[in-house]
Amino acid sequence: MYSSKITGVGHYVPENIVTNEDLSKLMDTNDAWIEERTGIKERRHIKKGDGNSTSIMGVKASRIALERAGLKPEDIDMIVFATLSPDMYFPGGGVQVQEMMGMRTIPALDVRNQCSGFVYSLSVADQFIKTGMYKHVLVVGSENHSGGLDFTTRGRGVSVIFGDGAGAVVVSRNESNEGGILSTHLHSEGKHKDELALQGPTTQHWVPEIITENDQENIPYYPYMNGQFVFKHAVVRFSQVIMEGLEANNLTTQDIDMFIPHQANLRISQYIQHKMKVPDEKVFNNIQKYGNTTAASIPIALSEAWETGKIKEGDLVVLAAFGSGFTWGSVVIKW
Ligand code: ACO
Repeated sequence: MYSSKITGVGHYVPENIVTNEDLSKLMDTNDAWIEERTGIKERRHIKKGDGNSTSIMGVKASRIALERAGLKPEDIDMIVFATLSPDMYFPGGGVQVQEMMGMRTIPALDVRNQCSGFVYSLSVADQFIKTGMYKHVLVVGSENHSGGLDFTTRGRGVSVIFGDGAGAVVVSRNESNEGGILSTHLHSEGKHKDELALQGPTTQHWVPEIITENDQENIPYYPYMNGQFVFKHAVVRFSQVIMEGLEANNLTTQDIDMFIPHQANLRISQYIQHKMKVPDEKVFNNIQKYGNTTAASIPIALSEAWETGKIKEGDLVVLAAFGSGFTWGSVVIKW
């Protein structure tokens, strides 16, 4: 068995900054409410005509990750692409990245695990490297939330939280076999699938019906979230899966050098941090600037933490996510 390591990280966010103040002009909300509940001050939104899309942002982040890994597109053996906001219903973003980056006819796998999408994707990449099947796997998380949110007061409980952006990493065979990705743990509990979901369009409610009904009062095409229910489950599952990862490696929370939680909500991150007694300097949060970018949030945070020198060779880095499904997971890395 081989082991895998992250050899390059990159991220891209659209230039257009949308503050809480900007949102308060579209709906009945205010800066104090948003910041107090979520920690968010601003987020990035794609602007119509700025040339961005989910797959294009994914490509921009991937180019940086590849350059930092010292690799060319032709060196990549597989793409794993995570998003809940693809450019098209099908095919997925993976093949778009393959085409735009001029890659060989390598496999392109699309992962649909929402906030846990990046952690799931990293685990998939790790398995393909471990078995020796591939040497370099590109893992991308990218989201264009702003194109599909309800920016009226009706949607305020959801739309103030989410932002656009992309992050990418290159996962490579760890030639030294020391450190690298130590473990990944993944879970799901489908009985809570309706608590955080976007219902339509679906094969249960297909396009001809949508057109004939056109029910403006009951539009299932915006995300629904039972916020308090999600919050309560998130804090429990985050903690469980982090401990599962640490214990599998005979480690404790005291061994953590950098904890990068999925940027769901600053209050969730802080709750877990305090529960695990991890000091502030060992936790990386950037939700204040970007909102919740779902599958992109961990790779964006990882890339920023690395760029600012907060992750160094030999550090124990713990990633964890929880989200729609519900799905959740953790990754323990010796950098
Ligand atoms: N601005 C002003 N008021 C608002 C807004 C808003 N943007 N949104 C909701 N309200 C109002 C509600 O209408 C409600 O008013 P009412 O009391 O008159 O009925 C009041 O504020 C309280 O609403 P709640 O939904 O109960 O607010 P809560 O304190 O639960 O906060 C929140 C909502 C921030 C979504 C919280 O439940 C939460 O953080 N949940 C966790 C979910 C999460 O973080 N999801 C991220 C995506 S999932 C993931 O990535 C894991």
